[in-house]
Amino acid sequence: MTYHVKDITLAPQGKKKIEWVQRHMPVLEYIKKQFIKEKPFEGITIGSCLHLEPKTINLGLTLQAGGAEVAMTGCNPLSTQDDATAAGADLGLNMYGWREQTTEEYYQTINQVLDHKPDIIIDDGADMIFLVHRERRELLGKIKGACEETTTGIHRLKAMHKDKALEFPVMAVNDAYTKYLFDNRYGTGQSTFDSIMGSTNMLIAGKTVVVCGYGWCGRGIAMRAQGLGANVIITEIDPIRALEARMDGYRVMKVSKAVKHADILITATGNVDIVSGDDFQYMKDGCVMANSGHFNVEINQEDLEGMSTNINNLKPDIDEYVMPDGRKLYLLAEGRLVNLAGERGQGHPAEIMDLSFAMQALSAKYLLENDLEVGVYKTLDETDRYVAELKLQAMGIEIDELTPQQEEYLEGWEHGT
Ligand SMILES: NC(=O)c1ccc[n+]([C@@H]2O[C@H](COP(=O)([O-])OP(=O)(O)OC[C@H]3O[C@@H](n4cnc5c(N)ncnc54)[C@H](O)[C@@H]3O)[C@@H](O)[C@H]2O)c1
Repeated sequence: MTYHVKDITLAPQGKKKIEWVQRHMPVLEYIKKQFIKEKPFEGITIGSCLHLEPKTINLGLTLQAGGAEVAMTGCNPLSTQDDATAAGADLGLNMYGWREQTTEEYYQTINQVLDHKPDIIIDDGADMIFLVHRERRELLGKIKGACEETTTGIHRLKAMHKDKALEFPVMAVNDAYTKYLFDNRYGTGQSTFDSIMGSTNMLIAGKTVVVCGYGWCGRGIAMRAQGLGANVIITEIDPIRALEARMDGYRVMKVSKAVKHADILITATGNVDIVSGDDFQYMKDGCVMANSGHFNVEINQEDLEGMSTNINNLKPDIDEYVMPDGRKLYLLAEGRLVNLAGERGQGHPAEIMDLSFAMQALSAKYLLENDLEVGVYKTLDETDRYVAELKLQAMGIEIDELTPQQEEYLEGWEHGT
């Protein structure tokens, strides 16, 4: 076992955090117990590129319990928790990464994981998969496939497959119901505000919060903003989602108009340059900007820097941009996904990652047990239902079952008025 972490003496503190999340991840703990019995990953190496924090380490421990040799690195240079990685290394995971890596170090540690010659990759954003295809092609023959965690990663992989550049099968874990309906919506919704409120200590009630993108993340962020008493404005490019936002009770307008109202602006589109150039001219003094999309490309920092006369770092994750007319605009966490890269960002609640990582663990097993052609695959509906059933059981919730008559009725067609 090898590791390259910030400070291995932080392990005891990290272990306490891991024990805490384990208490709140009952589905993953159940799967871990099954894996201990079945050992589905005996002789297999799994390499992951996921936000390195206690819940992810618990996924690593689950795969290890199933017999895998596990090597892990982070998928964002700012989201790693150094005590969690120390604990992971101490618990026998090959662990590479530390908070505030440079870009060069970021790719160095992805390569260190790849040096373990993984059979399966678990990625978040597709950086590791991309690196294998571009620079570590010698590994292509050994890799049986990958599981991808997030919307942006799935977009990249589908584009790769369309261009016939993808060379192994990928399970689109993000697209499982038990992932995006809960992780992207409730997870991102809550953790985005946990992080923004933790960093800024701002009151949300009475503020105007602009949410760019009304996808699964945007819906969750808007819902939480409204719940906290904010006046919410949505910007969209999709007419159906824009209409949905309107009927959910929000104002909808073009971003160029919305920026004029924003006390807080949050991007969650997975797209580039959502706020750029002139948008910064029209923002109110004091506007706080944050991004919850995967990459730090949604708020154009180059434009922001170019327009400002002065940039002051107020706190580790709050930068103040002084505009020529004296207005001050604030960017959190360097425009990286705020719920993990913010100083107080802890990512989604453990109860949420319980579902996402249960799908990851079961999808990795499925990938190993099935010879799939190259492509991007939706996870099985039966796995989704199984994970949802386990979660309901853990929550002590019972639901009804169809009676034989109801089943017959639903399947029939001769029962009109
Ligand atoms: N912060 C986190 O923890 C977290 C969790 C899950 C996903 N993500 C990331 O968040 C991003 C969004 O994910 P999602 O699942 O909500 O995706 P999604 O596809 O459901 O939603 C994205 C929405 O953005 C809209 N959009 C695209 N371009 C736009 C533009 N120029 N202006 C306004 N709206 C625009 C799309 O129409 C769509 O409705 C992705 O990058 C994803 O990887 C982050």
